[in-house]
Amino acid sequence: MPENLLRGKKGIITGALDENSIAWQTALKAKEQGATFVLTNAPIAMRMGAINELAQACDTIVVPADATSVTDIEKLYDEAKEFLGGNVDFILHSIGMSPNVRKGRPYGDLNYEWVQKSYDVSAISFHKMLQVAEKKDFINEWGSVVGLSYIAAQRAYPFYSDMSEAKAILESIARNYGQRYGQLKKVRVNTISQSPTKTTAGSGINGFDDFFDFADMMSPLGNASAEACAEYIITLFSDYTRMVTMQNLFHDGGYSFSGITPTIVEKFLSK
Ligand SMILES: NC(=O)c1ccc[n+]([C@@H]2O[C@H](COP(=O)([O-])OP(=O)(O)OC[C@H]3O[C@@H](n4cnc5c(N)ncnc54)[C@H](O)[C@@H]3O)[C@@H](O)[C@H]2O)c1
Repeated sequence: MPENLLRGKKGIITGALDENSIAWQTALKAKEQGATFVLTNAPIAMRMGAINELAQACDTIVVPADATSVTDIEKLYDEAKEFLGGNVDFILHSIGMSPNVRKGRPYGDLNYEWVQKSYDVSAISFHKMLQVAEKKDFINEWGSVVGLSYIAAQRAYPFYSDMSEAKAILESIARNYGQRYGQLKKVRVNTISQSPTKTTAGSGINGFDDFFDFADMMSPLGNASAEACAEYIITLFSDYTRMVTMQNLFHDGGYSFSGITPTIVEKFLSK
């Protein structure tokens, strides 16, 4: 593994809840690769306390911020700037939540207030983080912003419910803000479409374990882990991907382009 890919780079990492989180693994890798950064999560997630252990391991601070609140994001950027001694080179948006999914509401009986909440937390917050950054001129030239998506943005997955639309919005924001920020300041914006991953957000989805196994059999390389995703994120924060922007990048062991795999055929034949 090359060392110091992020040497001298500063950033913000959202969404580290516990060691299973994609953001948690990203923070460990970013530290390993020489970056300095500030951690943040929703004030309610602070109660679990685990993020403070991560902060200690990464020699950094945690700034609580609800990503749906523009005021909180402004405060986050101001405090991060003070701690880091300047603007940032990368931001990770690793945030997702749907009250409808959490509470098991079927797609034909959605609570629309919760739908708004799903979109706001999981997608519009990405726009808010980008817009506040632009207004404050908070990201350095050739900076990199990454959000996390799922293939239900393009294909129908019944269990993913209103999160499917949330991810479609998220990917659209990456394209549109990517174009804007690229022209303004050479800042790139991408989403990574990740395999099903055993995290708090992932496991909250009905039937997740069965689907996890199915996706694993449909992926020639198997499901991508949170740690592997973190490694991919690091490459997107590095200078080796400076010309990649406005993309939705599949990080799924080949799942997205497999029609069927021999493993799945064998599974059927054995029945
Ligand atoms: N786990 C999977 O199967 C999978 C697959 C593809 C994409 N993703 C995406 O990866 C991202 C990270 O999720 P994860 O799987 O690491 O799970 P996770 O539960 O560890 O992380 C989700 C994070 O979102 C945070 N969050 C929720 N509401 C917030 C708010 N209002 N403000 C700030 N933070 C808030 C949570 O506190 C949590 O830390 C999400 O966007 C998720 O949709 C996950």
